[in-house]
Amino acid sequence: MDLHPFLLDQWTARFADASPAIRFHLAGSTGPSWTLAEIAALGDTPLDLTNTPLGYSSAEGSRALREAIGAYHGVDPDWVVITTGGSEALSLLFCVLERPGADILVPDPGYPAYDAMARAWRLKTQTYRLTREARYAQTADVVLAAMTAHSVAAIVNTPHNPTGSVMKRSELALLAGEAAGRGMALIVDEVFHPIYFGMPQPSAADLDNVIVVGDMSKALSLPGLRLGWIIDRDAERRSRLITARSYFAISHSPLLEIVATHALTHSAAILARAQAVADANLRAVEAMVENLRGLLDWVKPEGGTTVFPWFVDGRDSRPFCEAAAAKGVLIAPGDCFGQSHHLRIGIANHCEGLEHGLEIAAAIIKA
Ligand SMILES: Cc1ncc(COP(=O)(O)O)c(C=O)c1O
Repeated sequence: MDLHPFLLDQWTARFADASPAIRFHLAGSTGPSWTLAEIAALGDTPLDLTNTPLGYSSAEGSRALREAIGAYHGVDPDWVVITTGGSEALSLLFCVLERPGADILVPDPGYPAYDAMARAWRLKTQTYRLTREARYAQTADVVLAAMTAHSVAAIVNTPHNPTGSVMKRSELALLAGEAAGRGMALIVDEVFHPIYFGMPQPSAADLDNVIVVGDMSKALSLPGLRLGWIIDRDAERRSRLITARSYFAISHSPLLEIVATHALTHSAAILARAQAVADANLRAVEAMVENLRGLLDWVKPEGGTTVFPWFVDGRDSRPFCEAAAAKGVLIAPGDCFGQSHHLRIGIANHCEGLEHGLEIAAAIIKA
């Protein structure tokens, strides 16, 4: 199996030890960082890991963690399967959904691993286009238009990476119902939920025919826990997912499961910080786009942690991103998402002073 290079990860890895060092990290999509000590100190009973037995956990994950995730999404904890990040959740789903000739519907633009990992599991991919003209609107019609007689599943990512568009609850419910009628599962990737800039949306986990993928990495800001999950009410498919997980990874780390359980118990504090950072930085990006009118344009995001503006003259953004990185500002080139005149700016990771990084970027664009 020949996997395409993961351009986004290659781009960020290239600047890990850059000299001069990167001072403004705007190429990622996670929330603001936390130390273990800060997470452990949340709440009245500080977390103590010293007596944790270092054995395996169970393939589906500890009961305590699954209960915390069930409460977070408002669903039965029995529906939850723990995975190594949202990444393994996707891989497990593709593994159990694959059958000869089957295809899966994925968004374009979208998180590059959808296409690469689905193909790695020998699923064909059918893309549905989210267009700038339609303000990247995610609707049931847009997704269903890409469906074939062989489609076994569709993936919706809301809030969406990289555009920040949000699929409304009514459209999700409509899509889930239509998909069920046509024998297709609906996977809703909610790793950026619940970061919203307009109307907050509930989790889709309680909808019939919806499989939710979630994680601790993005809105919950703890990517180093490498912890994700699948919520699937279909007991037969869930049992196949757990079997696959036993083979892939045996279990997650019990230590990290305990940290994640503690973090979820105090998720309100973690999410409030991520939302505040994203709100403030979104205002800074909005001011920059205003200031660069005629050069740069955008569709203002409705949620999530990234914005996806574009060069009005259609130029490739990579030379600009190289120049910005040389001045200590790391922004992801749009070609990482197949759209070279766009750039992706992460707005939830940098806690203070992002506007200074944006000033440096704007000066390069104006020069
Ligand atoms: C939309 C989306 N889903 C899933 C993932 C997987 O992340 P992780 O494995 O850290 O949960 C990412 C990572 O960037 C993402 O952007």
